[in-house]
Parts: sequence; structure tokens; C-alpha cells
Amino acid sequence: MSMLEVRDLEVAFGPVAPLSGVSFSLAKGEKLGIVGESGSGKSLTAMSVMGLLPLSGGRITGGSIVFDGQELTTLAESAYRKLRGRRLGLITQNPMTSLDPLQKIGPQVDAVAVLHLSMNASEARTRTVEILGTLRIPEPALICDRYPHQMSGGMKQRIVIAMALAADPDVLVADEPTTALDVTVQAQIIRLLDDLVKERDLALVLITHDMSVVAQTCDKVVVMYAGRAIEYGPVEAIFDAPQHPYTQALINCIPKGLSTDEHLSGISGTVPTVSNYPKGCAFHPRCDRAKNICTSERPAFITYGNNAAACHFAGDDR
Ligand SMILES: Nc1ncnc2c1ncn2[C@@H]1O[C@H](COP(=O)(O)OP(=O)(O)OP(=O)(O)O)[C@@H](O)[C@H]1O
Ligand SMILES: [Mg+2]
Repeated sequence: MSMLEVRDLEVAFGPVAPLSGVSFSLAKGEKLGIVGESGSGKSLTAMSVMGLLPLSGGRITGGSIVFDGQELTTLAESAYRKLRGRRLGLITQNPMTSLDPLQKIGPQVDAVAVLHLSMNASEARTRTVEILGTLRIPEPALICDRYPHQMSGGMKQRIVIAMALAADPDVLVADEPTTALDVTVQAQIIRLLDDLVKERDLALVLITHDMSVVAQTCDKVVVMYAGRAIEYGPVEAIFDAPQHPYTQALINCIPKGLSTDEHLSGISGTVPTVSNYPKGCAFHPRCDRAKNICTSERPAFITYGNNAAACHFAGDDR
């Protein structure tokens, strides 16, 4: 059974709708990648699931998000507060958005179990030390007495992961958890997340710019472009037979070892912004296979084998 089911999600900030048509489902023990360029709507998708859009003035204007059988788009904030941090964990790109620079590590992690699991201070500390150990943080009891600034970027990100795990969530949303880290540390953190999914039977949403991370880590992938999902399916299907030209471009850049943004700056044209999303298929100005229909009609999803792509020519021989 799916733990998280997102259907036709649409988000608006006043009259502007930077996100629409995002759908995916995720079961326990599964890893879903959301991949796309900067501004494609990855974080808005994550914030929608976490119920955090109102903080930035956004609103869900369409679609549904069902978590363990419960509709979240209409959930009251008081009920959301009981889920967030408890059953839905979030890891953000910059650890310092989650850590308080003025507070020692131990109490920050303890607070999660105190709040959500009603533990007393000493029970919570025992749990903190245990979780830090699971995350392969050396000398966890000593680390509890440190301040965030006394730790490396990779260690800080592990602390944030510890906070996200402290209440034993069912779903973990990791929004570019490794972007701020150097390459070897990135690989360690990704491996750690992978192990955690297995050990804890988590459902992981992994947001990344990097198609090679998706290839190595995820079971399923949603490819986003200009605020929409444009291809969705199992990772093997998408890598074996990508149907959308944008997905093909992302995959083509992997062997060259370039990041998505670097590669796409090599494709002619620029990434559209919300105010100028092109008509029809938003990718058409940059697509070398675009035909007339692509400039006027928005493509619906076409199922091709195990994956589905929003391209008028998905499934055609190319
Ligand atoms: N608070 C906001 N008000 C208005 N528009 C917003 C707001 N937050 C995001 N947007 C718009 O929504 C679009 C998607 O943003 P989002 O942050 O989801 O992109 P992203 O894929 O996470 O990009 P990045 O890789 O840079 O993190 C962007 O075009 C952005 O301008
Ligand atoms: Mg983002």
C-alpha cells in the first residue's frame, strides 16, 4: 500500500501558479527521486507535502496529497503539527536552516523526542546518543555538548538527519540534502540515507539536481520542468527508455560528469521563469524535436511501457 500518494498537485502564490500536474506514489521502503533544474518546483512539492507552504504565502489550489490514507491538503494546521517532525521528516539543503547556532547539539536533537514521543530529558538523551551512533557520528555522547559551528558541514547534515529521524517518521523528505557538501561527503550521506531506508522501512523522497544520484539510489523518479512533472516511472524504465527529450538530455549528461545545470546551459535557450512559462509544452523552445503542436497544446501524459511522459511524441520511435 502506498504511504504517500500525490495526485495532480497545484500550488499558487496569489495569481501565480508555479506548480501544477505533479503526481507520484511512494510505498514504505521505496525511494523516489525528484529531479529537475533550479526553479522547476522541487522544493514547492516538498513544502506542499510537509504542509509548510503557508509560511511562504503559498497555497495548494488543486489535487491531493494522501499520507497513510489521510488527506493532507485539507488538514488543519494543528493536526499537521502532530505529523510534521513525527511521521513526516524533512531534511533541507542547508543544515543551518534546521539547526540553532546558539544551542548545543544534544538538546536540539533531544527536543524532537520530548515533543513528539513525550519522553523525559534523560530518555530523550539516551535516544539521541543512540541515533547519532546509528548515523556513524563518532563519540556521540561528546558531540551532544558541541555547538553546530564546531562541526564540519557533513557532520552538521548528519545532525539534521538525526533530528528528522528522532521521532521515527514513516516518510522522509530530503530536499537536496547534499548540495552544500563536497563530493566524497555527498556520497557518504547518500549511502547513509540508503541504509536508513532499508533499516527503518522508510519511504524516502530524495530531491536532487543530479540524475546520477537518482540512477544509483532511487526506485522511482519524477522529472520536473517549469513547475510540472514531465516524466514519471521506475528508474530502470526511465533510464532504459526515456521518452521526454528533457529527460533524455538529463541522462545524456551523466557520463560527462556534468551537473544538470551545467549541462543544460549547453542546450540552447534558457530556463523559463514562472512569469514566462511557454505555451504548449514548456520545453518546446529548447527541444530540437519540437513540432507545431508542441507550441500550442500542452501534452498530456502518455504511458509508454512502465513510464509515462508528457510529450506529444512519447512512445514514437526517435
Ligand atoms: N514564496 C514564493 N512566492 C512566489 N513564487 C515562488 C515562491 N517560492 C517559489 N516560487 C516560485 O516557484 C518556482 C519553483 O520554485 P522551487 O523552489 O520549488 O524550485 P526548485 O526546483 O526547488 O529549485 P532549486 O533547485 O533552485 O531549489 C520558482 O519559479 C519560484 O520562483
Ligand atoms: Mg529547491
